Amino acid sequence: MAQYVIKGGSPLAGEVEIGGAKNAALAILAASIMTDETVTIENMPAVRDTSVLLDAMEGIGVEIIRVDKNTVKINGARVRNVNIEYELIKKIRASYYLLGALLGKYKQAEVPLPGGCNIGSRPIDQHIKGFKALGADVKVEHGVIKANAERLVGAHIYMDVVTVGATINVMMASCMAEGKTTIENAAKEPHVVDVANFLNSMGAQIRGAGTDIIRIKGVKSLHSANYSIIPDQIEAGTFMFAAAATKGDVTIKNVIPKHLESITSKLIEMGCEIDEFDDAVRVVAKGRLFPTQVKTLPYPGFPTDMQPQAGVTLGLCDGSSVITESIFENRFKYVDEIVRMGANIKVEGNTAFINGVKKYTGANVSAPDLRAGAALVIAALAAEGVTVVDDIHFIERGYEDFDIKLRALGAVIEKTESEKEVKKAKMKLRIVV
Ligand code: UD1
Repeated sequence: MAQYVIKGGSPLAGEVEIGGAKNAALAILAASIMTDETVTIENMPAVRDTSVLLDAMEGIGVEIIRVDKNTVKINGARVRNVNIEYELIKKIRASYYLLGALLGKYKQAEVPLPGGCNIGSRPIDQHIKGFKALGADVKVEHGVIKANAERLVGAHIYMDVVTVGATINVMMASCMAEGKTTIENAAKEPHVVDVANFLNSMGAQIRGAGTDIIRIKGVKSLHSANYSIIPDQIEAGTFMFAAAATKGDVTIKNVIPKHLESITSKLIEMGCEIDEFDDAVRVVAKGRLFPTQVKTLPYPGFPTDMQPQAGVTLGLCDGSSVITESIFENRFKYVDEIVRMGANIKVEGNTAFINGVKKYTGANVSAPDLRAGAALVIAALAAEGVTVVDDIHFIERGYEDFDIKLRALGAVIEKTESEKEVKKAKMKLRIVV
């Protein structure tokens, strides 16, 4: 298992370039197989989740040409079967997007029930409800979701909860259904809009993505496209909180500031200075940081995927903060780890009560999931002494070159692959600074 060995205490400073949005990429890569023509995807984040999805797609006969690290050409003309192999796909939750894509194109799909981060119960009832409304027969048998339809016919679908996954999945399938589909109470996340824009660039007819009513007019076929994925709002937010926690001065480039509003406004409440540019934001955290309240909500609310990063930063603010997690019940797993670094945080149900401490101290901690792992890295960067963050394979699911980007901002961080390397890195880092 790989680790990051981090010597904390250096304020992050400089510029960092944000990559393409992982959660948009996963849906867009899956949707690329909906045409028999070749699709080119640019600004694809080279992270473990996209790489596993591409491997799974190759496994069913999709032709994938990796043009460079962040560009891929995809041709789905020769899909051999609609049955996705379990071993590959159980690692990533977004495998379920292949269900919507295959069902839309071939009216048939078999995909194992998804894995992904264990951040709480992750039902897929709304996906199934949507596919059924379009006329598909959907069964879950032996851990596999099986969907097939003679024809898919447009329908009026009301989502009982705001769900990104089900909104995107049903939007994909209904693109190639007969007639009109309306999705009400749809998720409004930037990546929902990005997937709709991508499908439209392939000839789909989707209107209203980004609002809570999406209207889709089915088309018979989709065509080739050349598409560049939007910047990753969560990667950007992670660097913004890292700047705040280390009392740094970081310019985060290649972002859409509008997508970062909920994050920006929390950082301002906490006493950071934020400068917004056309496609960049600068976060300066020089003085005292103030406590605040955070409640996770669907977009445009504060993202659940930013909650751990906010939590570890609030743990260093002067006073008491409260975080309410309203999307996934199991997202406070970083708290036990951060408490070992000296944090004073207590969790009751879906609420974390945080009493700010002056400093964290380095310790050996384990990344419990992707975003919690990123949060522990932030804590380590701000901590006194050396921290070893284990199980960083979770972090690598969603952050491209995380250690390299942090090092360019002045962080003292080494990636190691064994206990022996950890020892060597610790010796080296103690000498640095
Ligand atoms: C996606 C993101 C994840 C992010 C989450 C919320 C990907 C690959 N993952 O996950 O990083 O944390 O959005 O922004 O894009 N729900 C149901 N029934 C369903 C589907 C969802 O009850 O059929 C509930 C969930 O339990 C959760 C809420 O809806 O409480 C939101 O889930 P959803 O938006 O679907 O999350 P994912 O798409 O799984």
